[in-house]
Amino acid sequence: MSAPIGVLDSGFGGLTVLRELRRALPHHDFVYLGDSGRAPYGGREAEAVLDFSEQCVERLFAEGCRLVVVACHTVSSVALRHLQARYGSETRRVLGVTIPAAECAVGATRGRIGLLGTARTVASGTFTTEVRKLADVLVVERAAPLLAPIVEDGWEETDVARAAVRRYVATLGDIDTLVLGCTHYPLLRRAFEGALPPEVTLLDPAPWVAERLVDWLARHPSFASPGTGRLRFLSTGDPARFAELGERFLGEPVGEVEYLAERGGALVPAVRVVPRGQLVR
Ligand code: DGL
Repeated sequence: MSAPIGVLDSGFGGLTVLRELRRALPHHDFVYLGDSGRAPYGGREAEAVLDFSEQCVERLFAEGCRLVVVACHTVSSVALRHLQARYGSETRRVLGVTIPAAECAVGATRGRIGLLGTARTVASGTFTTEVRKLADVLVVERAAPLLAPIVEDGWEETDVARAAVRRYVATLGDIDTLVLGCTHYPLLRRAFEGALPPEVTLLDPAPWVAERLVDWLARHPSFASPGTGRLRFLSTGDPARFAELGERFLGEPVGEVEYLAERGGALVPAVRVVPRGQLVR
């Protein structure tokens, strides 16, 4: 039986990564888990990011995945080592996006790299650490906490989005390459292109993440398990909203979204009940 590849994100944003993974591996099945009910992760404490991402990874393994790709830059920057140490084995692996992001930035830069990401991603400094392992270049990381909520609300093409992007780009100073270090930012590409001088290279690491995964699977053939290109979506948030917004991130209709609730420290399939008025226990 084929094993789907798990893709984990704090919410909808990782669908921009799934889009590229699917393009690169059209015959593989994927299970995407968006922790939308607890997103955004970017302003959370590192311990909370570890707790939430543990629950997500455990759910994806329970769904039959043997390989989990952490699409979320926040989780990748803060919790990947922990997740790999805790869950990695001969038959189970967890991969992230920070090293591929560093590799493509180093491949593109003339010496001055900027990264915009969540507050937690930037506080970790993990991207800078990974770049410095590859090259002696300048790295400037800055937090852009308003951008993910702007995208979540579908405001990418508004003056609000353009003004916010301009303000955050200005905090980076003199750079030649800008890395979109958050899964939501590719949807703001137009605003970024308008805010950056033409000589600055704008990088979405997602296509490179997909290429690296193809390469990794070639080197670890026991984890390559092609199926029929089936997609499943799990969310801790409102499934209807996930399906509606998800289409914009994925670039194709999302279809059915299965709801997960947290019960006793685990994410489990559940029926979502939205009470009107007060909830009394
Ligand atoms: N998925 C997150 C990331 O790539 C962005 C949204 C969040 O703060 O949860 O960092």
